[in-house]
Amino acid sequence: MKISLIYGGKSAEHDVSILSAFSILQSIYYNYYEVQLVYVTKDGSWFKGKTYKEAPLVKEELHLSLNNAQPILPSDLKEKNTVIFPVLHGPNGEDGTVQGLFEVLNMPYVGCGVLASACAMDKIIAKQLFQQAGIPQLPYVAVTKNDYVDAREEVIAECVGTLIFPMFVKPANMGSSVGVSRATNEEELISAIEEALLYDQRVVVEQGIEARELEVAILGNSEVRTTLAGEIVKDVDFYDYESKYIDNQVTLQIPASILDEMQERMQEYAKKAYQTIDGSGLSRCDFFLTANNEIFLNEVNSMPGFTPFSMYPLLWKEMGLNYSDLLEELIQLALLRFEKRQQIQV
Ligand SMILES: Nc1ncnc2c1ncn2[C@@H]1O[C@H](COP(=O)(O)OP(=O)(O)O)[C@@H](O)[C@H]1O
Ligand SMILES: [Mg+2]
Repeated sequence: MKISLIYGGKSAEHDVSILSAFSILQSIYYNYYEVQLVYVTKDGSWFKGKTYKEAPLVKEELHLSLNNAQPILPSDLKEKNTVIFPVLHGPNGEDGTVQGLFEVLNMPYVGCGVLASACAMDKIIAKQLFQQAGIPQLPYVAVTKNDYVDAREEVIAECVGTLIFPMFVKPANMGSSVGVSRATNEEELISAIEEALLYDQRVVVEQGIEARELEVAILGNSEVRTTLAGEIVKDVDFYDYESKYIDNQVTLQIPASILDEMQERMQEYAKKAYQTIDGSGLSRCDFFLTANNEIFLNEVNSMPGFTPFSMYPLLWKEMGLNYSDLLEELIQLALLRFEKRQQIQV
């Protein structure tokens, strides 16, 4: 069987995606699979590279261009006996768009489907769904570009009337902390909203809190398994793009040292959140935990970072599932989901 490993992509997490893809290439079980590289450049061009029967030596082999690879259209992905492994993050990667392509091509693929990917990506829709499911979240105000342009004063009055400073302002659809800022007064709130509106027509203004950040890994289709939570221990104000990918100002504590009861509650909420959006394959659920043991769901990431140093695979390692076996499970889950959907269509 062949694995089409798609990586790179148009998002800010392009380089992380290459790291994840390289780790996957190093660890996949080559006695079962050969791996076809499919690289998406930062400007959205697609290239088909080599097919590997064993692990490549250096990461540089993954940088494909006209010199060493064949330009393709996304629809050229279609191949028999092939499972797609999209290790793409952010918009166009984990927001349901490429998943829609895989559905149209009628091919099995690793991870969440169109609905779960789109719901997890959109911070406003996700909040509305999780609210209905009774999962605790921070209070927020949703702002659209039209509202803001037509009635700025009212939008600001609503934020200030509903929330207290500091507030966190985020584009509804981004990820990797791009366009996210913390506002401590009205002036900063205005510039934070304007900044976030550069990235999306819809923005979330959210209650800011002092809290620890914990993450739970989820694996499965209809039967869902969760890990103990791990903690992002940071000595920065917030987990912004710099601290995530440039300065590495964070360490991971796995498992987090918190009360068993908090672990259990987080696992329960993670599972509920995943089932609410119809998750399949995998996701990582991110929480805030306050000093008085209040838990708030922050977000669900349907394609979390997948390098050997990323939280998601490390959480599973702690539970006794190593990186290669994790990849194998994800591929099997992709095939199972595909088979089930085929049966429904007949
Ligand atoms: N309401 C909040 N209170 C405190 N910190 C927050 C809040 N919202 C976000 N943050 C900080 O900003 C980071 C990025 O926000 P997040 O909602 O996770 O967006 P992204 O999808 O870009 O990862 C979080 O990891 C956290 O450090
Ligand atoms: Mg986040």
